[in-house]
Amino acid sequence: MNNISNKDLVFKGKKVLLRVDLNVPMNNGFITETSRIEKIIPTINLLIEKQAKIIVLSHIGRPKGKFIKGMSLKPISKKLASLLNKEIIFNQNIINENTLSEVNKIPNGSVMMLENIRFNEGEESNDSKFSKKISNLGDIYVNDAFSCSHRSHASMEGITKYIPSYFGLQITEEINALKKITSEIKKPVTLIIGGSKISTKIKIINNLIKKFNNIIIVGGMANTMLKYTGLKVGKSICENNCGTLIEEILENSKKYNCKIICPVDVIVAKNLEGMGIKKDIKEVDNNDMILDIGPKTISSIKTIINNTNTVLWNGPAGYFENPNFQNGTKQILEIISQKTKNDKIFSVAGGGETVEAINKFKKLNSFTFVSTAGGAFLEHLEGKTLPGIKAINQNV
Ligand code: 3PG
Repeated sequence: MNNISNKDLVFKGKKVLLRVDLNVPMNNGFITETSRIEKIIPTINLLIEKQAKIIVLSHIGRPKGKFIKGMSLKPISKKLASLLNKEIIFNQNIINENTLSEVNKIPNGSVMMLENIRFNEGEESNDSKFSKKISNLGDIYVNDAFSCSHRSHASMEGITKYIPSYFGLQITEEINALKKITSEIKKPVTLIIGGSKISTKIKIINNLIKKFNNIIIVGGMANTMLKYTGLKVGKSICENNCGTLIEEILENSKKYNCKIICPVDVIVAKNLEGMGIKKDIKEVDNNDMILDIGPKTISSIKTIINNTNTVLWNGPAGYFENPNFQNGTKQILEIISQKTKNDKIFSVAGGGETVEAINKFKKLNSFTFVSTAGGAFLEHLEGKTLPGIKAINQNV
């Protein structure tokens, strides 16, 4: 792999344009979750050690080519500086004719962060002039932003056409972990998939069904499956007109010999704030809302995971934001965490809500790998080639 840890690469005195994903959740100017910042520290430290001049590029939010004060990277540059324990020169100007001379002034082994790359018009349109303009600021380009690699933007894709380009440490770790659940799998392999809509995850299911032994469907998605089989789901989240999608899943499960598992019991309430009542799936009433999986379902998940060597988890089992309905999600975390610790199985989790649940229940270290990517993680699991990754692989 074309990676910065390659000993033959010389970085001393070279201007390295390092694209990372600092699109972190913020509330009133405060960063509420820092894992994306923490994960790029090894790459920056390696480049500092190799005496490169590091120019950090990132976006936050979707400013659509315009300056928006609330989407400045300044507070994030301060956080990164404190985590690195090193000064970061923050360049608050949008890229202009002076940027090159400002970048040229920085000493070897130092770090400059440019302002939100999406404040520039040509970024999202992958404009070739803008790609060339940013490439002129550096000697080498490094992509350490797996979570943006599904975007064909100038700082992700266009730039690689003009200067030598490599992968950073974090993206390499991510690609290697995902290989172990998509191509170099140690079987039996199980997917636990949840979330509200089956229609948004059908491509993942149909891509993985060919290689996986078990697919456990939980959350709102399971309701759609259950309703299709003639069961009542009351007022629960449920999609209509998914018959063709479900038939496709069931046909593929037979064709590829992959078991599909849905909840056999659930926790229901009359509304999102209600108290949970345990019910067999056949007992759900018209005015019930299914908000979590029940104990028999949890126990069958445990049995399956105990006989599995590789687990991939995406999507919570229920409405975990309310403590009355968090047990299913918590138990899945516990089962995978124990099995990873005791039997050294390979476990991967990812996706926005999944990472939120993992953080909430403090289980970040319980998986072999947790992806901080949202859309890119899902597109990769659908079997798509991500443009940001393809671009580096072609730049040999
Ligand atoms: C993400 O948070 O998934 C990445 O930063 C990409 O952001 P985007 O969906 O705005 O392109």
